[in-house]
Amino acid sequence: MSLADGVSVQDGVLAVGGVPLDRAFAALRRLEPGAGACWIYDLDLIEARARRFQAAFGPLGVHAGYALKANALPAILRRVRTAGLAAEAGSLGELRAAEREGFAAAERILNGNGRTAEEAEFAAREGVHSVNADHIGELDLLEAHAARAGSRVRVALRVNPGIATGGHDYVATGHEQAKFGVAAAEALEAWAARARWPHLKVDGIHLHVGSQLLEATPLEQAVETARQLAAESAGRGAPLGLVNLGGGFGVDYTGAGREFPLEAHAARLKGLLGALPLDRVMEPGRWMVAHAGVLLAQVLWVKRRRGAGEGSARRFIVLGAGMNDLIRPALYHAHHRIVPVRPRAGAHEPATVVGPVCESADVFERDVALPPLERGDLVALLDAGAYGAVMSSNYNGRGRLAELTVSGGRLTRVRAAEDAAALAARATEDTLDVG
Ligand code: LLP
Repeated sequence: MSLADGVSVQDGVLAVGGVPLDRAFAALRRLEPGAGACWIYDLDLIEARARRFQAAFGPLGVHAGYALKANALPAILRRVRTAGLAAEAGSLGELRAAEREGFAAAERILNGNGRTAEEAEFAAREGVHSVNADHIGELDLLEAHAARAGSRVRVALRVNPGIATGGHDYVATGHEQAKFGVAAAEALEAWAARARWPHLKVDGIHLHVGSQLLEATPLEQAVETARQLAAESAGRGAPLGLVNLGGGFGVDYTGAGREFPLEAHAARLKGLLGALPLDRVMEPGRWMVAHAGVLLAQVLWVKRRRGAGEGSARRFIVLGAGMNDLIRPALYHAHHRIVPVRPRAGAHEPATVVGPVCESADVFERDVALPPLERGDLVALLDAGAYGAVMSSNYNGRGRLAELTVSGGRLTRVRAAEDAAALAARATEDTLDVG
């Protein structure tokens, strides 16, 4: 039986990439006796999805840059690179991570709305495919660094297309209240005035309308926006050469099978982009990795709290993972299916599944039907490969969890959990000279 692309049930036990999760956790505990949870990713699935993405959009001439912010684990970067993807970085840290994993200059796309001098210098000196500029003032900074480095940097202007995508406010980026991008009129002026920045090639348009889109319509509207603006800019004597359509391809978190229609979108894009003979870039993140990861957690406690009414006890399952590890439910009211690794026989009853962090928001799911669970049992939170570990923190003095990969049936710990020494290591006693 397969629950999602990434997990299956073998002889009654939940498995990732063919490795039973109870045995995986026992193996980790031999290295980390105190582990209460860990991340596990199926690298073969990530590579397969990366190849599927390439098969859909490669024939359209799309240069796809995997969005590192979704999950920048080096082992994952290596697999998406093997599948032929470039890298999309949102910060200097991600640019450096991409460089370390062998993504060449032409395979590095730089995003971000808080451009720093260090990022501009990296782009100018080390080279990038293109920079997506989030406002016009940024062009002067990029120009200064490109002039100093004697290089030429390609720039796409991020245009806020005024497209509402629905979904949680925090992942919608293309509507007019969002902080991202410039107005279309500002972009048109900058393209027309691009001779002002002789060390830049300001010939691109970037549109990223939002994340976790399950329908292609907003993305297709963005293509229409790009087409109109490209025509208008050409009419003003400043033809565009590059269109970057961002990411946003959503996945099914419910198990109902509702996925972003990738191949159908590619087929429609073929027609839409036919009228837009420009270099093409996309920036998929979540779609590549979400299904391929689980957050595996041990049940620390099962608490039954008597309610005000007679006999109605509320069941709380307290896990060894909390909101500091996977913040999506607390931050976006996101849902991740919670599946016992080795389900016990017995009736499904409601449970509120929580973490150990001292916050009322530290709840993964309320009143979800689950079979009996006991202290020490394992559960998996599914589809946690994207925006999981990368968003975790040390809140409540908790070390970040170990990360394991599976490939060809082999289990590897690719990142150790942070122990007490790692948590203490940043403490300093540096006297600062305040002049
Ligand atoms: N390009 C840009 C400019 C972006 O800002 C993002 C994501 C992507 C590409 C990749 O988007 P994707 O294909 O993954 O949807 N933490 C949130 C999602 C935030 C997305 C941020 N930007 C979550 O957990 O749902």
